[in-house]
Amino acid sequence: MTQHEVVLAGVGLTKTYRARGAASRRGLTRPALKDVTVELRRGQVLGVIGESGSGKTTLARCLALLEPIDQGQILFEGEDTKGLKGKELRAHRRLIQTVFQDPMASLDPSQTVGSALTEVLSVHNLRPREERPARVAELLDVVGMPASAAHRRPAEFSGGQRQRICIARALAAEPVVLIADEAVSALDVSIQAQVLNLLLKLQRDLHLTVMFISHDLHVVEHVADHIVVMYAGEIVEHADAKDGIASLTHPYSQALAAAAPTVAKAAGKEEP
Ligand SMILES: Nc1ncnc2c1ncn2[C@@H]1O[C@H](COP(=O)(O)OP(=O)(O)O)[C@@H](O)[C@H]1O
Ligand SMILES: [Mg+2]
Repeated sequence: MTQHEVVLAGVGLTKTYRARGAASRRGLTRPALKDVTVELRRGQVLGVIGESGSGKTTLARCLALLEPIDQGQILFEGEDTKGLKGKELRAHRRLIQTVFQDPMASLDPSQTVGSALTEVLSVHNLRPREERPARVAELLDVVGMPASAAHRRPAEFSGGQRQRICIARALAAEPVVLIADEAVSALDVSIQAQVLNLLLKLQRDLHLTVMFISHDLHVVEHVADHIVVMYAGEIVEHADAKDGIASLTHPYSQALAAAAPTVAKAAGKEEP
């Protein structure tokens, strides 16, 4: 295998959610994913763009083995994940961590940050028990939070800090792949740049393989090595990020590019 080895791949993924109500009775179902093929190469960032409803989160959840697919294959380190159950499935899920848009929805408001992080370590039996408090402090430090944050609850933090906590929790699992699904989209523009730079620094320092999902093409251009554009459950275009968004030729991609704000410029100026 070369250094561009594919860590995680979706091949011909198709997924249709069961429709509810009248649409279901009339048999109206539109696939959320239609024959989607993607590859995440080791140590690289795959950017996924597309408007709301195009299937980005569905793709993330299927690749993270959180959601079953109807057709196709999900390969982890070249091995088909089909049929994984119980302990093996949990072990694979540990290696593919996801950070979603809304940290408040992802965190338990009644649980201290320290307890949330410790839980990940104990569920996956990572680190000897006596080393876990130090590991929690280390994880907080890695995401730029003080060790004292461990004793506090999610509501005591800002949106950006909460997202850092979600990132720390994902890292606690020692993943190989990190999927950031609109992870900065809900944050103020200045905070977006900081969290974006944190993600990039972690990706480099920890050699993570990353799928970075955003509806903002400029942000994706800034962070990604390779870009795919989703539209109505399909990948309509692939591009090398170094060629820039100007190289995108699909009319839908060009419309997205024209509509995108320019957070990436702010992020680029601030070195982590
Ligand atoms: N749990 C669900 N049940 C039914 N339909 C869903 C569910 N999740 C997503 N969908 C539908 O699947 C399509 C893709 O959604 P999603 O993957 O969330 O797109 P995106 O993340 O790009 O906004 C949309 O039409 C959405 O309404
Ligand atoms: Mg989404």
